[in-house]
Amino acid sequence: MNVLPADPVMADYERTRAVFDWRRERSRLAELPDGGVNMGYECVDRHLREGHGEHVALRCVARDGSVRPVTYARLAQDSSRFAHLLDALGVGPGERVFTLLGRRYELFTTVLGTLRAGRVVCPLFTAFGPEPIALRMELGDATVLVTTRESYERKVAPIRSRLPRLRHVLLLDLDGDPPADTLALPALTASAPKTYDVGPTASADLALLHFTSGTTGTPKGAMHVHEAVLAHRVTAACALDLREGDVFWCTADPGWVTGMSYGVVAPLALGVTTVVDEGDFGPARWYGILSDQHVTVWYTAPTALRMLMRAAPRDGALPTERYDLSSLRFAASVGEPLNPEVVHWGRRALGLPVHDTWWQTETGAIMIANFAADPVRPGSMGRPVPGVEAAVLACGEDGRAAIDEGHVRLLRQPGAQGELALRAGWPSMFRGYLHEPRRYESCFADGWYLTGDLVSRDADGWFWFVGRADDVIKSAGHLIGPFEVESALMEHPAVAEAGVIGRPDPLAGAIVKAFVLLRPDVHAGAELRRELHAFGRRRLGPAVAPREIEFVEDLPHTRSGKVMRRLLRARELGLPEGDVSTLETREPSGTPDTTAKGS
Ligand code: WT7
Repeated sequence: MNVLPADPVMADYERTRAVFDWRRERSRLAELPDGGVNMGYECVDRHLREGHGEHVALRCVARDGSVRPVTYARLAQDSSRFAHLLDALGVGPGERVFTLLGRRYELFTTVLGTLRAGRVVCPLFTAFGPEPIALRMELGDATVLVTTRESYERKVAPIRSRLPRLRHVLLLDLDGDPPADTLALPALTASAPKTYDVGPTASADLALLHFTSGTTGTPKGAMHVHEAVLAHRVTAACALDLREGDVFWCTADPGWVTGMSYGVVAPLALGVTTVVDEGDFGPARWYGILSDQHVTVWYTAPTALRMLMRAAPRDGALPTERYDLSSLRFAASVGEPLNPEVVHWGRRALGLPVHDTWWQTETGAIMIANFAADPVRPGSMGRPVPGVEAAVLACGEDGRAAIDEGHVRLLRQPGAQGELALRAGWPSMFRGYLHEPRRYESCFADGWYLTGDLVSRDADGWFWFVGRADDVIKSAGHLIGPFEVESALMEHPAVAEAGVIGRPDPLAGAIVKAFVLLRPDVHAGAELRRELHAFGRRRLGPAVAPREIEFVEDLPHTRSGKVMRRLLRARELGLPEGDVSTLETREPSGTPDTTAKGS
C-alpha cells in the first residue's frame, strides 16, 4: 500500500501542506490503459494486481453477531458478476443504479460492480419512506434498483407507477418467487463470470450521485466523479490516520455520503480491512465490535457518541474496564457539531479524544479536520486538509457571502464570523447538481465554493462552527430539507400550510418540528395530531417525519409569500426576532404579525 507522501503522515502540518501536491498523489493511482481513473478499480482490481487478493477487505458482522470475512479476491469476483449482469441487462454507461440497502455484503458487490462497469451509483437511505424514495428516483432517472424484497414491497411497489424509466428491480432475497416486475439477483449473478475487465473510464466520468437537501425546492443530486477516489485516499490517510494493517469501522449508513465515501470507497482504496455491521446501534453491540474486531480506527457521529455517553452503567464502570479497547488508536466524528463534552468523555471513557472532521455531500471528502499528530481543540472542526484552501467570507444582510461585482471579501482577522468557502478544484468536489446547472453555479463565486456554513477561524488557523446560513435541519447527523417535510404534510386534507424547523435537542442536535396551520373548520385535537404524525411517518419514513407537531392559528410569511422559518425558530427558542423587514404585514399600519405561535 502506498498512501500519503509525507512520512510520518501529517507529523508537521505546515510542512505537509507546503509540499502537498494533488498531481503527485494522482500519480500514485493505478492508471488504466487509457489514462483514466476508475474508483472501483482502485478499490478492488489494484489490490489483486499488487498481490493482496487474500487480504481481508470486509468483516461482515451479522445481526446475530457471527462474522464473515471477505477477501479482496472474493470481492473482485462477486462485484465482477454484478458488473456482467449490468452488461447483460443492457444498462448503458452512465446510467444510474440505485441502492436501497443497509450495511451488508451485497451493498459492496453492487456498488463496486457498478463503479467497475462505469455505471453510476446512487444510494438511498433505508429509513426513507416512499415519498423521498420516489422523488429521488424520479429526479435521478433511476434505471436499476437493488434492494430487498421487504423494502421493495413496502416502499417501492406503491410508487412504482411513478417510475416509468425504472427498467430493472433486483431483489437480494432468495426465498420464494420474486414479485411481479422484479428479478431475483442471486439467480442472475450465480452463473456470471468471476472476472471483469474494467473498461475505459475518464477521471471526470460520473461515479456517484448523492442526493442532499436544500432550503427550498427538490433535493439536489450532487454529482461525483471517479477521480474523487484520490481525495478519499488522501483524506482517509491524513485525517483519519488510516494505515496499512488497520481495521477500520465507519458506522455511517450507506444511504448518505459518509457511508459511501468512508464506509466503502476510502478504506478499500487504501487496502485496509473494514468492519460492516449489519445490526443496529446499541452500546453493548458497539463496544463489543470495537473490542472483538480489534478496531484500530473508528469513524462515527456525534449523536452516536452522545448516546454512548448517556448509556454509562449505574456502577460508573468505564467501557475500558468492561471491554478491551486497547486496539483502538484513533476516533473521529462528522456530520454535526461535536460538543467539547464528548471529546472529554472520549478521553475518559475510551482512552482517546474524539477528532472532529468537517465536510459536506458537495465536498465528497473531509475538508477540515483535527489531525492525529495535533492536540485536539475541543469544539473546533480543525484545520484544512492538505491540498484544500479554506477561507471565511464577509456576509451580506441575507447571511450569505456578499458578492460585489463578482468578488468576495476574505475576513482575515481572528474570530471574525462569515461564510466558510473552499478554493474550488479539489478532486472530490461535486461537478454539478443533476439537471440543475444554475443551482450549481450559484454555489460558486470568485473561484470559491460557498458552503452555506457560518464559521470563524482563530489566530492559529483552527475553524469553529457557528451555524448554517440556511434553514436545513441536521437531525442525528442527517440533513433534512424543511420544504420536503412541509410539502408532504400539506398533502394531508386537514393541513392548509406548514412551517418546519429544527428544534435543538441535546441528543440528536435537532429534531424536526412542524408548525401546522389547519384548514378552516378542522378541529385541532390530539387525535388529528396523532394522525398527522402517522401520515408523516408513512410518507417520509422515520428519519424525516416530524417528531413534534404544533398547531398554530397563523404562520409568519415574507412579502414574497414564503413561510418565515427563521422567525418560527426564533420564537420557539425565545430569541430576539431579529430583522423582520421582509415580513409580510397584515395591517396597512405596517405592524408585523407576531401572533403566529398560536398561543
Ligand atoms: C453539513 C453537511 C459530511 C458528511 C456528512 C454530512 C454539517 C458536517 C460538521 C462538523 C458542525 C458539521 C454542516 C455541513 N456538518 N460536519 N464537524 N461540525 N457541522 O454531509 O449531509 O451534506 O451535511 O453538515 O452544516 O454543511 P451533509
